[in-house]
Amino acid sequence: MPITTCIFDAYGTLFDVAAAARQAAAEPEFAQIKDTWPQLAEHWRLKQLQYTWLRAITDAHADFWQVTQDGLDWAMEKTGVGHDAALRERLLALYWELQAYPEVPAMLKALKDAGLNTAILSNGSPDMLDGAVQSAGIADVLDDSLSVQSVGVFKPDARIYDLVGARFGCAKDEVLFVSSNGWDAAGAAGYGFTTAWVNRSNEPMDRLPWTPQHVLSDLTDIPKLAGV
Ligand code: LAC
Repeated sequence: MPITTCIFDAYGTLFDVAAAARQAAAEPEFAQIKDTWPQLAEHWRLKQLQYTWLRAITDAHADFWQVTQDGLDWAMEKTGVGHDAALRERLLALYWELQAYPEVPAMLKALKDAGLNTAILSNGSPDMLDGAVQSAGIADVLDDSLSVQSVGVFKPDARIYDLVGARFGCAKDEVLFVSSNGWDAAGAAGYGFTTAWVNRSNEPMDRLPWTPQHVLSDLTDIPKLAGV
């Protein structure tokens, strides 16, 4: 079946999650993370994700905003900036206005111009996604932002991928699912979507029972993969 619907993970895929720590580190009042911001960003992201998986398998769902704050608190302690309230507040504020990767607007516009459905499918809560979409200026090239919140469990639970068919009325094999998270691309491939893993930093492939059909270094070629 031809691709009719392109679905994107949000954090790390459309939006640069490292941007919050990078930007704060460049501000004179947060010089304490000038050198350590890459480690802070990496720990923050990994803990945030681990907490989603743990909460999913133990049926202890919480809003992604809660999980994001919990991950940051762990990462700040780990990297030696402890409980710096001003830094914490600044990093969290920046998370609501993350930069999109530079190729995102033109890539989404090409899909929309060709008449394809486009949407986000994310662990993010609807208000977080709305903030990121607005600040990136891509609301007019997305049909929707689908959040796990309506289901109450995180990816890669299959009930989350079910949201795509429920929203667009499409079959699994009409969907191109795009994620920079290897585990998410693998989960979506196992579910039955055609998947593209965006591997910006040349990471090894996750050792999981399912593999994405496509591996890209950024999002530029997504329209080509979708047959546009
Ligand atoms: C999301 C996380 C997994 O946007 O990046 O769902």
